[in-house]
Amino acid sequence: MIASSPSSSAPARRMAAVQEMAGMLRLLFEVEREFVRTATTLIYRVGEPELKYLLCQHVWESAGHARFLRERGRELSGFGKGEGVRDSLGGIFSEAVMPENGYVALAGFYRVLKPALLTAYRHYLHVTDHLADWPSKKLVEEFMADESRHGDEIASFLGFSPASAPAVAASASEWTAHLSAALSSLGGFLGENPPVPLPPHFTWAHSREHYTHPFTCNRGKYPTCSSVFSEDPAETPIVRSWLVDPKTDARVIRLMVYVWLMMEMDAVDYLATIFYDTPAAPFDLHHDMARHLWDESRHSQFGYRQLPKLGVDLMALEHSLDLYNILVRMPPHERYAMMTMEFEAGSFPTKATVMDRVRELNDFEADTLLAFDRNDEQNHVRYGHRWLPEIMALFGETRPVDDFVRATQEKFKQLAAVYGGKTPHALPPGQRLTADKILKLAGANTL
Ligand SMILES: [Fe+2]
Ligand SMILES: [Fe+2]
Repeated sequence: MIASSPSSSAPARRMAAVQEMAGMLRLLFEVEREFVRTATTLIYRVGEPELKYLLCQHVWESAGHARFLRERGRELSGFGKGEGVRDSLGGIFSEAVMPENGYVALAGFYRVLKPALLTAYRHYLHVTDHLADWPSKKLVEEFMADESRHGDEIASFLGFSPASAPAVAASASEWTAHLSAALSSLGGFLGENPPVPLPPHFTWAHSREHYTHPFTCNRGKYPTCSSVFSEDPAETPIVRSWLVDPKTDARVIRLMVYVWLMMEMDAVDYLATIFYDTPAAPFDLHHDMARHLWDESRHSQFGYRQLPKLGVDLMALEHSLDLYNILVRMPPHERYAMMTMEFEAGSFPTKATVMDRVRELNDFEADTLLAFDRNDEQNHVRYGHRWLPEIMALFGETRPVDDFVRATQEKFKQLAAVYGGKTPHALPPGQRLTADKILKLAGANTL
């Protein structure tokens, strides 16, 4: 007689066809959520703004895939409770972050893991019944189109030629072989292939050492500085008091707010650090943070796309690194508290004044960008109220939220005194964009 187990009970056998597909949707959900947790570590390690923006967009789309998979999965018997990720899959993604060079890690994600995900979706489509499982089929077809596009969009950033970057090209091909071997030992994300035993001398990098965020973020070819804000028009592009001074020409304010928006790249870089640090977070927290991240990357693009149209040479605009450099020294719940409760919650009055002044210019595009920015920021503060207590709980923080935020603000000031102001101007005053130069560019000779 065969011993009965829950999976071989009559009700389970009756639903076996559904359970088999639900099990695959569950695996795909876990893969997508792990991509969100770990591909975010690429963002602050690569230098091209366009690449950072694309990664933020892919992370957001992947969070969307995960959410739809979870919704569909929960309609089916056998998807399972909870949102945890099994160790075998988590191990692949924890491995993927390990290369010290962000571009080598990028190659692992986009030459191995993303193509394997596309293969897994294709397999799902191949083995499911297109009429019985039509709701899943529609989702999977859409996700496959997204995955193909993601691959195409990143392709031009993966062309390390042995001639131009021999060390990166060699490490990338060695690393992608390593990651492929790791994935083959599972037989692919859905176990759709026979598992291939790991090579004899294979060792997992993430079991040897811990991944840590770099102490500063990568801005590629762009010049850097500590901060773009000051009170000295010969020093930085934004003079804080000018933004709210009624005497300031509105054209100057428009240029300054575009610089401000472009510099939200710092929010992109430091927010991106929080996902990896919160593996036990509920998926909805990562989903909303992925949205937050994509919003910040769009705000940064507002500046990145508009400034050149207004005559700014982006190679003369220094990128400010202070916020990343300081926040990365703080634990994740403190980073998130500073972002949502201090920087974002505190920005509304100044931005409201700025919006009113920019409206004098009848620049419909500027008004639109600023209105959407404001709407997004209101959502970010809402996310902060929703998720800060949960992130605090993940790190055992039991103080009331207000007390914790106040203490964190104090701590930030102390850390800023130690780690802030350390990035020298990459460009001499004559070459960099300053507020004095913005006056000339705007055609406003005096304040
Ligand atoms: Fe923003
Ligand atoms: Fe924001």
